[in-house]
Amino acid sequence: MTAVGIDAIEIWTGKLRLDLPNTFAPEMGEDPEKYTKGLGLESSSFPDVYEDIVTMGANAAKRLMDRKGLTPDDIGRIDVATESAFDNSKPVSTYIAGCLEQVYDGDFHHANKGERKFACLAGTQSIDDAYNWIKAGRNRGRAALVIATDTALYERDDPGEATQGAGAVAMLITENPSIVELSTEQGYGSADETDFLKPNQQFPSVDGKRSVQVYLARMREALEDYESVSGDTHPDDFEYVPFHTPFPGMVRKAAVLGYRHTSRDTEIEEELTDEIGRQPREADFESREEYTEAIRDYMDDLKGMDQYREWYAETIEPTLSISRNVGNWYTGSVHIARLSALRHALERGEELAGKQMLVGSYGSGAQAEIHAETIVDGWTEHVEAVEVEDQLARRYDISFDEYELVHDVHNHEKEVDVEAFTTPEAEFVFTGWGRMNERRYEYVE
Ligand code: HMG
Repeated sequence: MTAVGIDAIEIWTGKLRLDLPNTFAPEMGEDPEKYTKGLGLESSSFPDVYEDIVTMGANAAKRLMDRKGLTPDDIGRIDVATESAFDNSKPVSTYIAGCLEQVYDGDFHHANKGERKFACLAGTQSIDDAYNWIKAGRNRGRAALVIATDTALYERDDPGEATQGAGAVAMLITENPSIVELSTEQGYGSADETDFLKPNQQFPSVDGKRSVQVYLARMREALEDYESVSGDTHPDDFEYVPFHTPFPGMVRKAAVLGYRHTSRDTEIEEELTDEIGRQPREADFESREEYTEAIRDYMDDLKGMDQYREWYAETIEPTLSISRNVGNWYTGSVHIARLSALRHALERGEELAGKQMLVGSYGSGAQAEIHAETIVDGWTEHVEAVEVEDQLARRYDISFDEYELVHDVHNHEKEVDVEAFTTPEAEFVFTGWGRMNERRYEYVE
């Protein structure tokens, strides 16, 4: 069977940086440790005044095409995943293709373009679409370009304001990929939920605490569904487990649940029995409530066990390093978690070819999806080429007053005129509106 998966990855971070514990927390009257210890965040990325989902997506895609030496003719499909779109009809992928056509010979007239929506899950769903398109033999030898791009802004003073972020991830999906091959097996957990939504409004309506519970419930369902096709999983089956990361503290909650589930009926559960007992079984309880409470107690104990802590340090913690410094990128979030893990492995010189990751994607509304990825020979060269640390380090540090201005600049209901904080160089920029209220872009040398 032909292997299909991710052949190249590039990112583009919003060019502004807000220091959460030192700049944001004091102004909000909060303890900085809520960020560093609770949510697990150091800083977030914001778009400068000339940046938006199109410029960030086009800039990530250009970086990817330049590095791979691609022309428009090599790409048969462009899917953009976003929940920050500004048009209910014309997809963001057409704007991005228009940008790219300004700088490459040829055009994308032959390419199928679309926009995927299911909150943060849409990036993974776009990869699925590309996978199916290639597996069906409809790609005529061409690759698919998937771009996950978002400005994750919340209303001022909404609790979600703590977890904002902005950036794009571009991924090339091909046959015989250079980074990871995707599994055919997938698992879903999907239900009609009202935890986080944007009913024709720019900023989300969020039931934050509930959204955390919905994330965990759907992720558990997806894991069970995945195991129904892959067979039981074991914590040691996977080198890394990248999750959708709205903030690292969320992944901390998901990870312990995943570990409990996958270590049940294994030698790990046996080893831990003397210290924390066996895992509670529902059949041993009279009510669901009693069972749920027993499970909660078990997981509190599990978190303190060396076995779990070592697994977490090796398998989960490395997926969080980019997210900690950029906040929530919505559709791009799980894809920077994968990239963080691979960069970590590269730094440590790990031999990963043939090894597996389990990837847990999630979108509010709500649906979780779980699949496995096998890392392929030659992955190091393609992961090393992604410019991550320099991009993050180059961001301009904004003060709290500047943050307030930037939030207003990107608020569709406000009109404010603010000078850019950085100078664009070799990138696409937003230049204003055209006669039909379309957004316009140009490439700045
Ligand atoms: P909050 O009220 O700002 O924060 O809401 P909190 O008071 O709950 O504190 C957060 C954590 O920090 C807690 O840890 C505190 O204990 C801890 P936890 O108990 O949960 O383990 N903490 C401290 N720790 C140490 N020292 C301190 C300290 N103070 C507090 N001094 C909330 C947090 C996540 C609800 C809020 O930020 C929010 O509404 N965020 C937006 C929604 C969200 O991100 N939900 C996540 C799941 S849904 C999802 O992932 C989908 C999404 O990406 C959208 C999509 O799919 O499109 C959001």
